[in-house]
Amino acid sequence: ESSTELDISAIEPGQAIKAIFRKQPLFVKRLTEEEISEENAVPLGDLRDPQTLDERTQEGHRDILVTMGVCTHLGCVPLGAAEGEVKGEYGGYFCPCHGSHYDSAGRIRKGPAPTNLEVPEYAFTSDTVIQVG
Ligand code: FES
Repeated sequence: ESSTELDISAIEPGQAIKAIFRKQPLFVKRLTEEEISEENAVPLGDLRDPQTLDERTQEGHRDILVTMGVCTHLGCVPLGAAEGEVKGEYGGYFCPCHGSHYDSAGRIRKGPAPTNLEVPEYAFTSDTVIQVG
């Protein structure tokens, strides 16, 4: 079981990066204040896989969302983590294979994917470095 260390200091609010964790794509996104407010305002009853942003992020780092970059429908890599890629109707990630839309918390909002993008185990080893796995 290998872990991956990532320096997240260069990720600007509203941006994301792609990395690799255990041979699979991993996304790390820094949410803007506006995105955090929007996601916190979503009623849980509107969600197919109800989870709050707090449940998907860590205390003291609510702006950092770490998810696998693997669509929970059939495993395609969603768009939205790289500059210029479409983010879908909910501003997070969009899977072009069959049209799954994820919000800025990586939660499934529209399309065939059954569950939110998976949040792997990770820890902050400093304010700017995370260790995934
Ligand atoms: Fe993503 Fe089907 S694999 S929508």
